[in-house]
Amino acid sequence: MSKSPLKIAIAGLGTVGGGTVQLLHDQAELLAARAGRTLALVGAAALVRPPELPLDGVPFFTDARELAKTCDYDVLVELIGGAGGIALEVVKTALERGRSVVTANKAMIAHHGVELALIAERTGANIGFEASVGGGIPIIKSLREGLAGNRLSKVMGILNGTCNYILTTMRDSGRDFADVLAEAQALGYAEADPTFDIDGIDTAHKLAILASLAFTMPVDLDAVSCEGIRHVSALDIRYADELGYRIKLLGVASRTEAGVETRVYPAMVPLSFPLAHVGGPFNAIVTEGDFVGRTVLEGRGAGARPTASAVVADLMDLATGRVGPTFGVPVADLTPLPAAATGSHRSAYYIRLMVKDEPGVFADIAAALRDEKVSMEQIIQRGRAPEETVPVVMTVHETEEAAMLRAVARINALASIAEPAHLIRIENL
Ligand code: NDP
Ligand code: HSE
Repeated sequence: MSKSPLKIAIAGLGTVGGGTVQLLHDQAELLAARAGRTLALVGAAALVRPPELPLDGVPFFTDARELAKTCDYDVLVELIGGAGGIALEVVKTALERGRSVVTANKAMIAHHGVELALIAERTGANIGFEASVGGGIPIIKSLREGLAGNRLSKVMGILNGTCNYILTTMRDSGRDFADVLAEAQALGYAEADPTFDIDGIDTAHKLAILASLAFTMPVDLDAVSCEGIRHVSALDIRYADELGYRIKLLGVASRTEAGVETRVYPAMVPLSFPLAHVGGPFNAIVTEGDFVGRTVLEGRGAGARPTASAVVADLMDLATGRVGPTFGVPVADLTPLPAAATGSHRSAYYIRLMVKDEPGVFADIAAALRDEKVSMEQIIQRGRAPEETVPVVMTVHETEEAAMLRAVARINALASIAEPAHLIRIENL
């Protein structure tokens, strides 16, 4: 092997950093054979040196800034996390030194991706962020390369392993939200602050990145509307089952003549659509292109080994020289696109109401829907409890979001309604 090794420095040795060190160690021969050169670890940083990792002979730093500034590497792998702070600092240091960066940090790419791409263009460095979206699924490469011959109209999917694990496990086991979230954290799926997962922020970061690549526009996190899964109850999950749906947290980016829409929301997905069957920590991403039609990619969306697989894919690209502009084209060629008007989005809906079981309730609810021209599809009410509240579940046909919200406001104002309506979109795909 005549080529010099690719010199790698890793900042962050937690779930993903640990998995990456292990993969580089376990697959060293395979990687060298495929790259035509060795991938050599020349430095690592974490607050505490993890004794279980194969880091013998690798210089260790407790200060990642020191690693980024002083170590002689070709590529810095940033696996600390956080949109700004030390992660951003070490990445900028590496890029300013003209050294490439590989990162799994979607928060940083969503907030600072364009700024970092500009530094990389100026200094001749490259940035790989395959691991930032979809865990082990090669979606960044697919958008940048495999689908490059298409105008994409849509990219959507299940983009957060923690939420999918929670929703699937709650359905399968009947366990409660907090208990399953704690398990997802123990398995290494969740963000350092898990509210990023359950409030949809992590999905929004990923969706903003995907929309940029799919529609050749600058990353626009502010344009993403975001709703998480906190309000999805075990009762909603049971009703979804009964109605022939699975509840999934979706990120959906679409481009129409009205503009670009980027939205994160929990949705009822029909069992006939493949995303309904994507369970546990798995992610799946659907794209629609004008020549290729629909593609679906599925795989493990979080965890040490799948994410390490994506980090190393970027390292292999750097080792072999398969590199290009960060977002597929130079930053100057990313074109901002108008956002579609809010409220114009059309969808069918599931509505769960907790009502006082008394005469005339249904008539009042039906009148609120009629007044906003929302057409009811079906209604379920079981049991009688004159003293207490009972759930009433309805589905309505596709309607404009603004009309649905007006109808819900009318319903919430009725004296017989015990708590605000629970609304979940039904995704008809
Ligand atoms: P962890 O919390 O498991 O690991 C973070 C690592 O960073 C730890 O090794 C920690 O050191 C180290 N660290 C923290 N502060 C410093 C510092 N000041 N200097 C040096 N090292 C520091 O996070 P994950 O591995 O889960 O996530 C890392 C990144 O990967 C994040 O951006 C995350 O969003 C992303 N990601 C995570 C996935 C997952 O499944 N977990 C999947 C895809 C992306 P110490 O251990 O000593 O405290
Ligand atoms: N916390 C993230 C998730 C990690 O659960 O999907 C993978 O990006």
